[in-house]
Amino acid sequence: MRKLSYYIASTVDGCIAAPDGAADFFPWDGDHNAVMTAEYPETLPTHVAAAVGLPTPEPRHFDTVVMGRGTYDVVLEEGFPSPYAHLRQYVFSTGLERQHPDVEIVSGDPVAKVRELKAQEGKGIWLCGGGNLAGVLREEIDELLVKIYPIVAGAGIRLFDGEFRATGFRLAAHRVFDSGMVFMTYRRL
Ligand SMILES: NC(=O)c1ccc[n+]([C@@H]2O[C@H](COP(=O)([O-])OP(=O)(O)OC[C@H]3O[C@@H](n4cnc5c(N)ncnc54)[C@H](OP(=O)(O)O)[C@@H]3O)[C@@H](O)[C@H]2O)c1
Repeated sequence: MRKLSYYIASTVDGCIAAPDGAADFFPWDGDHNAVMTAEYPETLPTHVAAAVGLPTPEPRHFDTVVMGRGTYDVVLEEGFPSPYAHLRQYVFSTGLERQHPDVEIVSGDPVAKVRELKAQEGKGIWLCGGGNLAGVLREEIDELLVKIYPIVAGAGIRLFDGEFRATGFRLAAHRVFDSGMVFMTYRRL
């Protein structure tokens, strides 16, 4: 059975974006960059890899990405309707029409779709964001891969939407960078 991993950048106070959806305040520069890019190359958008002179990312941990419409809207507005062309791409939305032949729009139940994907052969499934979809898929998340930056946002889009329900995870690994970013791997208990 394949795993669903929520790999995401967060502030210390659990925000993944500003209230207006911008996430460009997470610093690119620092010693974390080369390490994370080497370890999780497939999380780099295809066009970003090309722009910085890197080859098309190889699927290392994940061969599939799932995201909510809010997350997809950001790259659509930037003019990239197939942001992770090196992965199988699914966008959850009840209203959006297909924008690119390589990106499937799923209007049905995200939990059912993720269970269907988990039952298929292959590498892991990356939950790219955002907090709204993560809240819906919370019980299906096997692994949290959280890049915690030394930033307090005060307000913004949260790591998880939803109601209060304290759920414990097991710390499986951690790595601290000189930049102040701490990469935490938590697995479902
Ligand atoms: N820090 C990071 O690493 C990172 C990574 C990714 C994204 N982000 C940020 O996250 C923000 C977006 O997060 P978000 O929480 O606002 O939105 P989101 O989770 O990306 O998307 C929410 C949308 O997903 C669809 N959806 C949710 N539940 C559904 C269901 N049960 N069935 C079908 N579709 C469903 C709905 O689209 P419809 O309304 O069309 O039905 C909903 O409006 C962006 O601003 C982005 O910058 C940050």
